Amino acid sequence: MEHIFSLLPDFLSAVRRTGNFIRQENGKVTLGQIEQKSLNNLVSYVDKTAEKMLVQDLGPLLPEAVFLTEEQTVRQLDGDLRWIIDPLDGTTNFLHGIPLFSISVALARKGKIVIGIVYDIMQDAMYHACLGKGAFCNGQPIHVSKQKDMGQALLVTGFPYGKNESILKKYIDVFSHLTIHTRGVRRLGSAAIDLAYVAQGRFDGFYEYGLNAWDVAAGTLIVREAGGRVTDFRLGGDFVFGAELIASNHHLHFELQTTIKDVFLK
Ligand code: IPD
Ligand code: CA
Ligand code: CA
Repeated sequence: MEHIFSLLPDFLSAVRRTGNFIRQENGKVTLGQIEQKSLNNLVSYVDKTAEKMLVQDLGPLLPEAVFLTEEQTVRQLDGDLRWIIDPLDGTTNFLHGIPLFSISVALARKGKIVIGIVYDIMQDAMYHACLGKGAFCNGQPIHVSKQKDMGQALLVTGFPYGKNESILKKYIDVFSHLTIHTRGVRRLGSAAIDLAYVAQGRFDGFYEYGLNAWDVAAGTLIVREAGGRVTDFRLGGDFVFGAELIASNHHLHFELQTTIKDVFLK
């Protein structure tokens, strides 16, 4: 594992190079260059080129590693070492000129996330964690918040894309309950950034339903290495592939999970 960790500077350079490309394309995508993959799920050449750049740079660094990537520009395989990549998280923000979008790159070893990198592109903030070695932003250690009082907590979430009305209704019920009982619930539009900000103590907790592994694989390791807790909605460990995620500063986890369980899972 130390061999893999020693390659971290190269992994970070690859992510930064792709981040520079995305930043350079910001504001340049025309309406005709936007495709809709499914309802409200947008993509452009920027997502796809970014993914190809990451695959091109990361591939030779760890030739034994295979890829799971959102845009599927490379063969999707399962293996002992696997990159899990969202080349542009927050595509809707990107396409609307809202400067909140990121790159999310994780490396899984035998199904366990061992490296997580989230690059908050317009803030030039590079978050990373290696399993057992803490979490960092631009090389400085980061920690989750110490907030124990839900009434003073600031949370963040995202809303499921597909318009399944009954899920959305329950989701809004959770949202309104938490809005009343906290300082507020933000909705930024990049799950990877949401998780990085929990790791950094900016938010006290994050929850979302319907996410994919590439949205959360990197960020969840960063939160845990920053001292936070991550579970699915039932307090279980299936949060990378399970589509249900709660990430918190640890102190507020149970209270947040109880609300989600009582309102969303009822
Ligand atoms: C989306 C973002 C958003 C979340 C969506 C994701 P994309 O990813 O992470 O915050 O609410 O569920 O799909 O499509 O911009 O890569
Ligand atoms: Ca995403
Ligand atoms: Ca994406």
